[in-house]
Amino acid sequence: MKTLHVDLGERSYPIYIGHGLLQHQELLQQHIHSRQVMIVSNSTVAPLYLQRVADCLEENLLATVILPDGEQFKTLESTSTIFDALLEKRFSRNATLIALGGGVIGDIGGFAAACYQRGIAFVQIPTTLLAQVDSSVGGKTGVNHALGKNMIGAFYQPRCVIADTGVLETLDDRQFSAGIAEVIKYGLIRDQAFFHWLENNLQALLARDKQALAYAIERSCRNKAEVVAADEQESGIRATLNLGHTFGHAIETGAGYGRFLHGEAVAIGTCQAADLSRRLGWLDAADVARIVSIFQEARLPVIPPQDLSAQRFLELMAVDKKNIDGKIRLILLESIGSATLPVSVDKQPLHETLKQYGRN
Ligand code: NAD
Ligand code: GLY
Repeated sequence: MKTLHVDLGERSYPIYIGHGLLQHQELLQQHIHSRQVMIVSNSTVAPLYLQRVADCLEENLLATVILPDGEQFKTLESTSTIFDALLEKRFSRNATLIALGGGVIGDIGGFAAACYQRGIAFVQIPTTLLAQVDSSVGGKTGVNHALGKNMIGAFYQPRCVIADTGVLETLDDRQFSAGIAEVIKYGLIRDQAFFHWLENNLQALLARDKQALAYAIERSCRNKAEVVAADEQESGIRATLNLGHTFGHAIETGAGYGRFLHGEAVAIGTCQAADLSRRLGWLDAADVARIVSIFQEARLPVIPPQDLSAQRFLELMAVDKKNIDGKIRLILLESIGSATLPVSVDKQPLHETLKQYGRN
């Protein structure tokens, strides 16, 4: 097992990474300081892993909430379902909520924990690759709104993250690839050596080679933990974790939540960001080709949906948390391994990317 730390003073917490960690009951138990524990999961993950987590809790487990599966259920309504159960069971302020699932469950569960009685303890047990390398770490929680992705939320850190890499064995290939999109992101924004490693080891990663997978998860979490420790509430460098996300969120919202997986939309969005970075003279064509090619090798889409016009993209991109005074701001690449802070770009190159990238 590897243990990393997110260094946030009194709110610092460990990220445990290893195969079979859910069998080690003491790992979770040491972070539960209450007799009232709720597990929030979904209809796909609960039948697979809920019992394993419940076994660690014994008589302290008072409630489980099993939400329907899917990005389209990352809503205030799902959050309310959790509040109903917490109140019906008279959960107190010292209770603990455990989010067991992918990024959707982690984001909803964390948001419910942040709001219930102004904040109860929560634990992340991420079960997708994407959640293990990104969403479970760093305390961004929240839900979608019909008009914008992740628009309702809170920064709220977990007490610990338990990433049992064994649970990834039941993840299908499409979801696994979606997680790789966020792994590639770390290489692109701040870790050139990791990008090279990924170029050389992608096939091993796709084959879920245990060593390659453990290395990629650990290195991703290390990158994320460093960024979050430096800028918890995104006043600066944390925004770089959003490379490709402004385009990507527009794709997710515009196409309808659930049509593109988050990681797929991020892969397309990152290729658009790379194209725009080239138009601005930062990347050269060979860099863009390498970026597109690694996403393709990871079996991810790189072309935006043809039914999303440039105009619609712009409307959707206008609803983004990085924007200031209504102006679209984007994370772009100065080189492979170095991202910009949010920048406003001239309309013309942005229009060119939206009109030409991926279109005939
Ligand atoms: P997800 O939570 O929808 O999970 C993907 C699918 O895999 C679901 O059908 C789920 O039921 C299933 N699944 C989960 N674990 C499984 C397992 N072990 N075996 C079999 N099936 C399993 O999607 P995701 O990709 O994990 O997360 C995407 C979400 O995360 C998006 O809503 C995105 O906005 C959010 N996100 C948040 C942050 C953050 O910092 N909070 C960062 C990145 C992404
Ligand atoms: N996934 C972006 C962030 O955590 O800031």
